[in-house]
Amino acid sequence: MTLLRWRDSLSLNVPAVDNDHKRLFELLNRVRFLDLAGDDPEAIMDALSELLLYTQTHFRREERLMELGNYPDLDAHRRCHREFTENVTEAMAQFRANSTNFRANNIYKLLANWLVDHVLGEDMKIRPFVAALAEAQAA
Ligand SMILES: [Fe+2]
Ligand SMILES: [Fe+2]
Repeated sequence: MTLLRWRDSLSLNVPAVDNDHKRLFELLNRVRFLDLAGDDPEAIMDALSELLLYTQTHFRREERLMELGNYPDLDAHRRCHREFTENVTEAMAQFRANSTNFRANNIYKLLANWLVDHVLGEDMKIRPFVAALAEAQAA
């Protein structure tokens, strides 16, 4: 399992969005390292909780920018965000149900792949609509 790193090809050149994405990658990798280190279940739960919280913060920010920029596919993009939130919530439920057999690596792969696909596939599309907004440039 390779470690997923932020790379320049993932950048929208929109600081408000890029900063959030970097933070999400950091959080995902934290989940993985906790698993590799055999750290205690509470630490994994903390990381998943933070991931869920920060995901929601990021999605709100991104959706607000899309609204301001009159992005035409806002509804579809919102649905993708909801799907990811559900995946994280589901991961937490699995963990709660059976923390000793919880494979953080599988969750990591699922979420990391989703995040890369979403940033490259969906978030990139909003760039022309939001890049010029003052809120988008605020780091
Ligand atoms: Fe998005
Ligand atoms: Fe995003």
